[in-house]
Amino acid sequence: MTRRRVAILISGRGSNMVSLIEAASQPDFPAEIALVLSNRPDAAGLERAEAAGIATAIVDHKAHPTREDFERAMDAELASHDIAFICLAGFMRVLTDGFVERWAGRMVNIHPSLLPLYRGTRTHRRALEDGVLVHGCTVHFVVPELDAGPIIAQAVVPVVPDDTEESLAARVIVQEHKLYPHALRMICDGTAWLENGRVVFSKGWNASGSLHSPTSA
Ligand code: GAR
Repeated sequence: MTRRRVAILISGRGSNMVSLIEAASQPDFPAEIALVLSNRPDAAGLERAEAAGIATAIVDHKAHPTREDFERAMDAELASHDIAFICLAGFMRVLTDGFVERWAGRMVNIHPSLLPLYRGTRTHRRALEDGVLVHGCTVHFVVPELDAGPIIAQAVVPVVPDDTEESLAARVIVQEHKLYPHALRMICDGTAWLENGRVVFSKGWNASGSLHSPTSA
């Protein structure tokens, strides 16, 4: 099995990063986390990556006059670690079309909503405001348009009457931590790939499950 060399890009606490590092520590996982790169020197995730023995790099966007300069510095780090694939995990910088196109089909993101609903920020608050009874998270390939790329995997959670932004976020993040390793595995072992702007799957899956919200229980 060839393990693809993956970089995780973070800006903050890095809990999704930890779930990917843990998954990749299993011998049968088809990816190794070769680099964690943060655009913020104070990102809490950096210490967590170091504690796990992963190489880290800081490319501070504030130290670069333009987005292109910033991204050139990131590309240099990625090249020096021979990175084949990028996972964005709470990486809060908008990337230029040039960077996104260089990594087309080789860069994925996790987003805390059931895309294409609630692109952008404050996804949990907006779901509560709309009164939806299911919400969730999505892993998708990154394309130039924000949060609009082809969908690789989604997880759904119920929304309950007493939910706050925090309680809903807490329910979604548990699923993010399961979904992201699952999606990365599918991409790195060749089960899912990007073709003509769509995600193609090499095998079918069990279509018998469903989530009813509210449940009758
Ligand atoms: C996660 O909920 C992730 O889905 C979200 O930021 C959080 C990062 O948490 N990403 C976005 O909103 C991207 N548009 P983490 O640093 O603990 O993984």
